[in-house]
Amino acid sequence: MEVANGAVVSAHPLASLAGVQMLKKGGNAVDAAIATQWALAVVYPGAGNIGGGGFMVAQLKDGKRLALDYREMGPAAAHRDMYLDEQGNAVAAKSLNGHLAAGVPGTVAGLFESLKYAKLPMSVLIQPAIEFAEKGFVLTEREARSLNAERADFEKYNTRPTAFVKQNAWKTGDTLVQTELANTLKRIQQAGSKGFYEGETAELVVAEMKRGNGIISLSDLKNYKAKFREPFTFHYRGYEVLGMPMPSSGGLLLNQMLKMTEPFDIGSMGFQTPASVQLMTEIERRAYADRAKYMGDADFYKVPVAQLRSDTYLKSRMADYKSGLAGNSTVTREGIVPGYESEETTHLSVIDKDGNAVAVTTTLNGGYGSRTVVGGAGFLLNNEMDDFSAKPGSPNMFGAVGGKANAIAPGKRMLSSMAPTIVLKNGKPYLVVGTPGGTTIPTSVYQNILNIIDFGLSTEDAVNRPKFHHQWLPDRIDLEKGFNETTKQALEKMGYKTNERGAYSRSEIIKVLPNGKFEAVADRRGDDSAAGY
Ligand code: GLY
Repeated sequence: MEVANGAVVSAHPLASLAGVQMLKKGGNAVDAAIATQWALAVVYPGAGNIGGGGFMVAQLKDGKRLALDYREMGPAAAHRDMYLDEQGNAVAAKSLNGHLAAGVPGTVAGLFESLKYAKLPMSVLIQPAIEFAEKGFVLTEREARSLNAERADFEKYNTRPTAFVKQNAWKTGDTLVQTELANTLKRIQQAGSKGFYEGETAELVVAEMKRGNGIISLSDLKNYKAKFREPFTFHYRGYEVLGMPMPSSGGLLLNQMLKMTEPFDIGSMGFQTPASVQLMTEIERRAYADRAKYMGDADFYKVPVAQLRSDTYLKSRMADYKSGLAGNSTVTREGIVPGYESEETTHLSVIDKDGNAVAVTTTLNGGYGSRTVVGGAGFLLNNEMDDFSAKPGSPNMFGAVGGKANAIAPGKRMLSSMAPTIVLKNGKPYLVVGTPGGTTIPTSVYQNILNIIDFGLSTEDAVNRPKFHHQWLPDRIDLEKGFNETTKQALEKMGYKTNERGAYSRSEIIKVLPNGKFEAVADRRGDDSAAGY
């Protein structure tokens, strides 16, 4: 889609339209991003949320840059060993499912914090979401299938009936009405963020915790704060990149990967040739080894950001790279490997005619988070606690572990991979980009950027051509279905282990064209949609 006035790309058509509606009412890109997130919390319950958290990166028309952190945090009663059994083994089921898996939600605080840069009142921005919840919306085939697939878990992890389970299976064309969620959104509409973090909604959360042995308290909710951070910025081939700093590894990983790429004329190697994929794989491997050892919430752990992004360090990291020969992921760094992250998250990209650009990635972590709905309040709680390292140095049920940088602590935010990103050309927005996908987020954003800047792909192809992923450990290249077979065989001859996997990553990109118009591209892997005018 090519438009002149403004565009929103998100995981759901109704959410994208809610954003564009705000642009048409005189709102800016921040207004649109807020309305889109409220709407996603209703029409995209697998990842859109008010019970989770997220990050916003923005450049405003006056050049001001924003990085807003509304990541969930560990409740006050959380402690380092809370997911270990009596033998000291990590029990992943506890950090993934049910009440104990939830961190203190940050989304509502984040939306109110971002309102400082919006033009319309919150009562207007939240209204489409209230209507979607109250009147319901019609399910697509994919949505009906997804709710049916979770039915057993919804029954297992809930103490009260939820809107997501009905007597018969969901089918295409059914209407999903969420009355309790509509009432929660109305409380927020009337009382602001206190309508969520205090009063009836907070009491419903705590009552739910009591019924399911969770630990989020009234004071955890009342004390939650979204935080503006210094946006993470660096240059790549004359473009400036704005990304998210800690507690997301997204900005730093992207910085490391792009800067390790810069000395190579990768464009002339060609898109997804054996040479370019091998080089990018070796770069991804090195960046993710650093993630495992050094990265966590910088408010709690000293992350050596300056060292990890320095030219000298990045050059030294590539010193043992050999073209045509697979490297290896020998565990030389205290036996630490990257933590597992679920791939269910969602991204939205927004731009307006005045030059405000907003990238937001938000998540419940796993699909439908902990699968626990707050009884009487109708919203799903995240299972973001699993993004902490349950036991530093020891593999979890997915064969992955993390380091002490990301150990659990009260008030600490779990390390994320989310990478909402804006690429600037001559100081003005050029690309607004992001994707869901857990640890595959930074490698997908990296590939989206190289696809456009170095390989000269169209935005459609940059988004929709298959992706690949290496994260140091496990030491293998994950190749998305449909990946070039000749390149795959060449990589195997070089000594790489490859692993074919299903579709992942749902990138939403807005590119500013030379004529000033916006090209908005939604990923074809889901029901994603671009809207604009
Ligand atoms: N839970 C996904 C992430 O934050 O990276």
